[in-house]
Amino acid sequence: MGSQHFLTPFFFILLSVLSVSSVKLPVLGDDANTIHVPSIRFDPTRVTQLSWRPRAFLYKGFLSDKECDHLINVARDKMTKSMVADYESGKPVLSDIRTSSGMFLSKAQDKVIAAIEARIATWTFLPYENGENMQILHYEKSQKYEPHFDYLLDKYNQQFGGNRVATVLMYLSNVEKGGETVFPESDPTLFQPKDESWSECAQMGYAVKPKKGDALLFFSLLPNTTIDTRSLHGSCPVIEGEKWSATKWIHLGDFDNSYKQIYSQKCSDENEKCSMWAKLGECEKNPLYMVGSETVKGQCRKSCNVCSS
Ligand SMILES: *[C@@H]1O[C@H](CO)[C@@H](O)[C@H](O)[C@H]1NC(C)=O
Repeated sequence: MGSQHFLTPFFFILLSVLSVSSVKLPVLGDDANTIHVPSIRFDPTRVTQLSWRPRAFLYKGFLSDKECDHLINVARDKMTKSMVADYESGKPVLSDIRTSSGMFLSKAQDKVIAAIEARIATWTFLPYENGENMQILHYEKSQKYEPHFDYLLDKYNQQFGGNRVATVLMYLSNVEKGGETVFPESDPTLFQPKDESWSECAQMGYAVKPKKGDALLFFSLLPNTTIDTRSLHGSCPVIEGEKWSATKWIHLGDFDNSYKQIYSQKCSDENEKCSMWAKLGECEKNPLYMVGSETVKGQCRKSCNVCSS
């Protein structure tokens, strides 16, 4: 996996930005040239740089208590057992390495969520449309997510805006003990003293304690868009209390638009076994993989008769 080369839209975007840098900025008050956009602010004094390897930052109080409670309340009765993406096929599968439950919100589902998503785009300097739908996660006592990468290795999921470049992980609750985010491959020279308030799992590497309202930003790709294996991270088992979090994965390119395009274009099967699986009832038994959802294009839409053309 070390020698993987990804398409580099980021690079082209950068080049084109550089080449227009001499263009005059619109003059205030000149209506013909002025674009009015709502200005969204963030407070840089609340951001701490945690680590360069991996590239990670913590924003204290990124969400208000009200916003945290709102996200939990919207998600609470829609939680299902979390899946992981198979590294080769991208197919969502159940796994012992991830024992939380979760759900996906829609983009800009309501005003509170739209405001949070706009704030994420502003803080990360990454466009709103590059972000996936927010995922809400719930970990009860002893539940965890073993160390894993957020970058994608399968081709299927990379159709949607290319690889994931960054993750914003928002803590929606305080956890009495455990539930830390840990980076087992973090720079070993990064010394972080840990007293007995940290769980044993958090000793594996640089770790962040969940605190209601805080947001952790880390990058899965290096600035040259190759994968950063130091971005390996996990959610330590909850020892006391419960943990709620929200995740926003951000892609190199336009996630929303590529998703819409791909979803509306093809009425096809992506796997030669689709018609057999459909006959065996997999469209009903395994709908997320077979048919898809608002955010995931199914692999067997033709055989499941959910599209025509
Ligand atoms: C990207 O950057 C890393 C770290 O600086 C370097 O090791 C790697 O060779 C670079 N890859 C490419 C394709 O430039």
